[in-house]
Amino acid sequence: MASQARYHTVSIILHWLMAVLIIGMWLLGKAMADDDWGALLGVVAEDKGSLYALHKATGMLLLCLTVVRMAWRMTHKPPALPAALPKHIAMAAAAVHALMYGLMLGLPLTGWIMSSANPTRPPISQYGLFDWPRLPVENFVADAAGAGRLMNQSHEFLSTLLALLLALHVGAVVYHTVIRRDGMLSRMVPARR
Ligand code: HEM
Ligand code: HEM
Repeated sequence: MASQARYHTVSIILHWLMAVLIIGMWLLGKAMADDDWGALLGVVAEDKGSLYALHKATGMLLLCLTVVRMAWRMTHKPPALPAALPKHIAMAAAAVHALMYGLMLGLPLTGWIMSSANPTRPPISQYGLFDWPRLPVENFVADAAGAGRLMNQSHEFLSTLLALLLALHVGAVVYHTVIRRDGMLSRMVPARR
């Protein structure tokens, strides 16, 4: 069989590492912010403080990983798509991927602004190693608390959009693997020796 075109190993590592972290962050966010999810995931009220700290630090780590991943993506072309793939499917995939990159930036940024809006809160600690600076929200808008609430709503909205896109994304992988059988999944899996 001809060797299958694959993503670069760096792209593959970043994709799966970030996929695990993002799905974990989504569940963690819901566990903290939504009582029904909290009960479902067995969150105890006393643990909430440390869950928030873990969510914020891991979200900031994801922001850094996203910057690295976008820089890598801009300098390394993905493998060519199979010639038989209809143009509209290729365009839909490109649109979903672009939106997912947007969310990988938008979610941490809205989180960082939301957490910065209240100056009495302690700074975001990166797992106790160092603190991130607080963004001076009050220098840009008159109503910093209102901006914080807007960012909170935006963060929740973007997280819902992420869940929808992820369902489309995983649905597309199942479609390629089971119906088209065009080996799309193996493009994102390291080659076997
Ligand atoms: C890829 C990164 C991130 C993902 C996927 C994510 C996901 C989520 C989700 C799903 C929620 C629950 C939304 C709701 O139902 O209200 C949430 C809440 C929250 N997130 Fe994130 N988040 C990310 C990054 C961040 C960052 C970087 C920060 C702060 C530095 C942050 C701060 C918060 C806070 C404070 C809440 C709770 C809001 C509340 O209690 O109403 N998030 N996040
Ligand atoms: C179980 C979950 C997941 C599966 C099975 C999966 C699978 C895949 C596969 C097979 C590809 C390659 C598509 C191609 O060949 O063009 C891909 C690409 C991609 N995935 Fe995922 N993925 C998952 C989770 C995620 C998550 C959580 C994100 C981010 C929110 C994500 C973002 C992306 C992006 C942006 C690309 C395009 C890469 C590029 O061209 O730069 N994926 N995924």
